[in-house]
Amino acid sequence: MDVRETWATRIGFILAAVGSAVGLGNIWRFPFLTGESGGAAFLVVYLALVVLVGIPVLLVEFVIGRRSNRNPIGAFTELNHSQWKIAGAVGALAGFIILSYYSVVGGWVIQYLLAGLTEGYVAGEGAEAFFAETASGTGAIAFHAVFMALVAGIVALGVRNGLEKAATVMVPSVVVLLVGLALYGSTLSGAAEAYQYYLYPDTSTLLADAVSVLPAAAGQAFFTLSLGMGVMVTYASYVGEDRNLLSDTGLIVGIDTAIAILAGLVVFPFLFTQGIAPGDGGPGSIFVSLAGAFAELPAGNLIGAVFFFMLFLAALSSAFSIFEVVVSFVIDRFDIERAPASVGLAVVIFVLGIPTALDLTYLELYDQFANNILLILGGLLMSLFIGWVYASDAREEIQKGRSASWFGGFWLTTVRYFVPPVLLITLALAVIEYYEFIQSTFF
Ligand code: PFF
Repeated sequence: MDVRETWATRIGFILAAVGSAVGLGNIWRFPFLTGESGGAAFLVVYLALVVLVGIPVLLVEFVIGRRSNRNPIGAFTELNHSQWKIAGAVGALAGFIILSYYSVVGGWVIQYLLAGLTEGYVAGEGAEAFFAETASGTGAIAFHAVFMALVAGIVALGVRNGLEKAATVMVPSVVVLLVGLALYGSTLSGAAEAYQYYLYPDTSTLLADAVSVLPAAAGQAFFTLSLGMGVMVTYASYVGEDRNLLSDTGLIVGIDTAIAILAGLVVFPFLFTQGIAPGDGGPGSIFVSLAGAFAELPAGNLIGAVFFFMLFLAALSSAFSIFEVVVSFVIDRFDIERAPASVGLAVVIFVLGIPTALDLTYLELYDQFANNILLILGGLLMSLFIGWVYASDAREEIQKGRSASWFGGFWLTTVRYFVPPVLLITLALAVIEYYEFIQSTFF
């Protein structure tokens, strides 16, 4: 393999992985979840989980993918442990549910993009009213259909390369726009209070808070890094053996985390300045706060349209990665051709998402179940497999591509003894929390 080819492979892999990781999770979900879960304490627990659990689990998926050269469903059979296929099936189920409402939120993004190009954004109460109109009802369903059709069209046509390349433009543009907006936000009257809320945890209650936010923070860590579903297994299956998986992981996690933190630095000053309590913003947080800000900025409608276009690309490249897992699962399991499988699944996922486009309570119901429970379960199963069943091969695999030799042992110890108990406790807390959520919503 010549030097140029090697380089191209690495970039393609990183772009695909970053394209999957960076999406609505960073810019839409992270700030509103932080708002709902009390601010800085959530940020601390989330960051700790990204480093201590997210990085090892991302490497688990990379190792499974590169070792087997297969998608998550075929991978375990290829590695001669077909009974662990259940991990792939959990991931595929999570994919169905996540994509069904992810596409609804993708539809909101399209509507906001169009608003910037047409009637323009409004501030204050108008911003909240606009969000309410956008988020539920026939418009939401229609744009959910548009978004889903685009995702299916891309998979069917295979213009995957174009989407990957879009990440080269998208990621730097999103960062530049977010930095600009964060700087603007720092000049607003609510900035000081916002930073206090977002960046300074109350150390006296941190431990107690940490337990209560654990399920949500773990769910977010997995969601934002595209973990637990096997997306990263699939992407790593195309990676050459000479790649250093560890340094690629560092880059992917670093970019993803930086974008999420930046999004918080944008959203909270705007919310505090508009007098909206961060916990009350809910799923509308970024839409209301940003539209309000764009309404007041010079050339705000144009900047807003550019921003939502970037967010649209980010959402599309993540949605695509989820759809890929679901489609390959169905092709594998039911032996159907790719094109009809894509169309059929797009329809199923569209229908599944309709309730979330009518009532935001369903959106939270889907979201918490898929992220806080299914993704964690998927990650737990894959970690148990690598740590306890496949350890010596895994160690050999991670060592390829010049990873420092001490690292393999350190990583495996973490995957064996640290990650499973943490995920098990998280899962138990998440199930209890989910049960209570259902009780309080429906009974
Ligand atoms: N990581 C994506 C985001 O942050 O928007 C969402 C996602 C993609 C979750 C792929 C799960 C997944 F497998």
